Amino acid sequence: MTRKIAIFDTTLRDGEQSPGASMNSEEKLIITRQLLRLGVDVIEAGFPVSSPGDFKSVQQIAAEADDKAVVCALTRAVEKDIDSAAAALEHCKRPRIHTGIGVSPSHIYEKLRSTPEKILENAVAAVKYAKKYVEDVEFYAEDAGRSDYEYLAKVTEAVIAAGATVVNIPDTTGYSLPDEFGRRIRFLMENVSNIDKATISVHTHNDLGMATALAIAGVQNGAGQVECTINGLGERAGNTAMEEVVMAIKMHGEELDAHTDINTREFIRASRLVSSISGFLVQPNKAIVGANAFAHSSGIHQDGVIKSRNTYEIIDPADVGASQSSIVLSARSGRAALRHRVEQLGYQIEGEELNQLYDAFLDLADKKKEVYDEDLESLIGEHNRNQKAYYTLKSVQISCGQPLIPTATVTLLDNEDREFVACSTGTGPVDALYKAVNEIVDIENELSEFAVQSVTRGIDALGEVTIRVTSGDGEVFSGRGADNDIIVSSAKAYINALNRLISHKEERN
Ligand code: KIV
Ligand code: ZN
Repeated sequence: MTRKIAIFDTTLRDGEQSPGASMNSEEKLIITRQLLRLGVDVIEAGFPVSSPGDFKSVQQIAAEADDKAVVCALTRAVEKDIDSAAAALEHCKRPRIHTGIGVSPSHIYEKLRSTPEKILENAVAAVKYAKKYVEDVEFYAEDAGRSDYEYLAKVTEAVIAAGATVVNIPDTTGYSLPDEFGRRIRFLMENVSNIDKATISVHTHNDLGMATALAIAGVQNGAGQVECTINGLGERAGNTAMEEVVMAIKMHGEELDAHTDINTREFIRASRLVSSISGFLVQPNKAIVGANAFAHSSGIHQDGVIKSRNTYEIIDPADVGASQSSIVLSARSGRAALRHRVEQLGYQIEGEELNQLYDAFLDLADKKKEVYDEDLESLIGEHNRNQKAYYTLKSVQISCGQPLIPTATVTLLDNEDREFVACSTGTGPVDALYKAVNEIVDIENELSEFAVQSVTRGIDALGEVTIRVTSGDGEVFSGRGADNDIIVSSAKAYINALNRLISHKEERN
């Protein structure tokens, strides 16, 4: 039997730290359910001391996970952070506190203005303090990738002696080379006297595009846990993508002497869900989950794959849940058929919510004969975005063309069903539209990105608009909207981003 590598998901913590990827508590719960379907070992649920919203969200995620996964809360090596994490995890069935401090010269001297000796004391004190609350304590040696080997080994030994069950070796800045990072892990395995009492975890970033290679180098050299996110979401260039590291371990299990317990057939669904909620599109050529990951276009490759799949395809698409997008529903399909398909896609939608989804489905099926799984997922995304929204779109009307002045009239409903109408001109239809919305939703923001793509093929496909807005205080929020009419998608995406901005401000307060 090969070694089991624990999969620690940090989509809801490090992933959420990407500018514009902030999620509300409802969205975090939807992702939690998908992480449980994937069978991750640990869910890093948030950083409770950072805001009341994060605190509450950690509590909700812990309740949702029940005993199916360890739920972990991040802290600095500071007592008030640890108190807050412990309080958020109070009713958690399998709690873990993840505490730590910087260990590289740059962190010790420049960021913390301290000394290696004091940092070591701090690290040990934090682990001991966390240990008063929970048995399972993970210590992160921040910026370990640029730290001194001997010092890192000394810190690792001391925190294990203080009770750490897992020691996380992050390459915080994504600076390392795989070979060197592997040697670092090997050095710890060979030079830390009590290493058998804890698991070494690797947490790598993608600044040089090597996060997955670094994580695998860690596994090859003794790491027993990998920290990762769906789609590689995360600070700056992101974290190790779970789908990549898990599939690499699956393909090379014997060589690596490793396996994971992840249900890989859930990857595509997880990827779409996280992309839809975070507003971070997945590049078509992204490994494992990109739209082109299994597309063969050159004649030579097509010929090879027809003769034997294994000539150019190392992974069976079905193993990661890539179905050949089948036509499943049409305008003649009833509510029961919709519900059945929605359940097969992994969502639970009942009662009044199912009625609303069915109306939206019929509306789409009227315009579009063939309703694919991707369309349904997009509709469900739209439906989820409208739950607890502060504003929803009632109607939009645009006049534009050559030589007209683009003019938009918009009607929005607020969450008490009050109607607001505004009209504006602009340099183009979207500009006019967004100005009209701004007259109703009076909140400072600037549009920083706008992208449109079709959900499936064909002229009648749904057009999905993804945008990013920057609030007055510099925070970035994404928004998404889908419709056959891209002007309507644009309106929905903007309203979605503004709803997130408002919700974030409220949760923070
Ligand atoms: O990258 C990093 O060092 C982190 C730690 C907080 C674990 O995210
Ligand atoms: Zn990180």
